[in-house]
Amino acid sequence: MKINPVYEREIVTIILYTSVFFIILAVVLILFFYYSRKKILQKEFEKKDLEIQHQKEQLRAVIITQEEERKRIAQDLHDDISSKLNIVSLNSHLLKTPNLTAKETLEITGNIIELTAKALENTRRIAHDLLPPVFDKFGLHAGIEELCSEFNSSKAVQVDYQNNLEFDDADKEKDLHVFRILQELMNNSVRHGKASEITVSFDENEVGRYCRYTDNGVGFDIKDKKNHNGLGMKNIGSRVDFLNATLTVDSKIGKGISVLLNF
Ligand SMILES: Nc1ncnc2c1ncn2[C@@H]1O[C@H](COP(=O)(O)OP(=O)(O)OP(=O)(O)O)[C@@H](O)[C@H]1O
Ligand SMILES: [Mg+2]
Repeated sequence: MKINPVYEREIVTIILYTSVFFIILAVVLILFFYYSRKKILQKEFEKKDLEIQHQKEQLRAVIITQEEERKRIAQDLHDDISSKLNIVSLNSHLLKTPNLTAKETLEITGNIIELTAKALENTRRIAHDLLPPVFDKFGLHAGIEELCSEFNSSKAVQVDYQNNLEFDDADKEKDLHVFRILQELMNNSVRHGKASEITVSFDENEVGRYCRYTDNGVGFDIKDKKNHNGLGMKNIGSRVDFLNATLTVDSKIGKGISVLLNF
């Protein structure tokens, strides 16, 4: 059979064009996938970079807080304990002075008793600030109850605390992070929010255990960079990381603050 040469040329041209079309399509597709993959990778690198930056910032906050805590403890020890023991020591040496009258001896021993009592009370306070004994002995629930009553006793703020959870003694280390988070949130509510009401509640749902925290204070703009300069919220962030938990903070100016900690 003989094929018409004109017809044959047409077929070859069609095949040629189709092949070129598919080659161009393949090149376009390859280029498209190459560039979109490159873009995805670039985005992933940027995300990783941000994460590393965030972790670095949190680490820095932890270190600075530790140093500040050390400075504060050193200051407390120096001002509230050493200075008092110093005067106790002076008074004790005075007792060795010959020919002291009974009145003088009484005055000096009175001083010693008063100063040692103050030094003792200060030691208790410093230790309490480092690790509240109630928390240490009776756990998170009792620790928070005490924390709330300390805030309530100031009369400036009323804390409503509800708890439907059991805290296990084996999780003491983790619970201390939760305690410190609440301590910082309450300090911020009083210091910055000027709140008159605070609520703290612990409960459980199908997702897990959670703590809800609110205050009725002045609130703040979370996105405003000037609210990112403190250490308190950064420390809360690293405690949340330690706990493998999630924290959502919601606040608007004039609307107080609402925090949800899933842990
Ligand atoms: N409950 C709140 N009500 C109003 N503003 C708040 C509240 N909590 C935080 N803020 C705002 O967020 C900022 C950051 O808080 P953060 O605890 O990190 O730092 P800080 O309290 O200023 O300093 P630090 O905790 O290091 O002593 C605060 O300066 C404040 O402006
Ligand atoms: Mg703070």
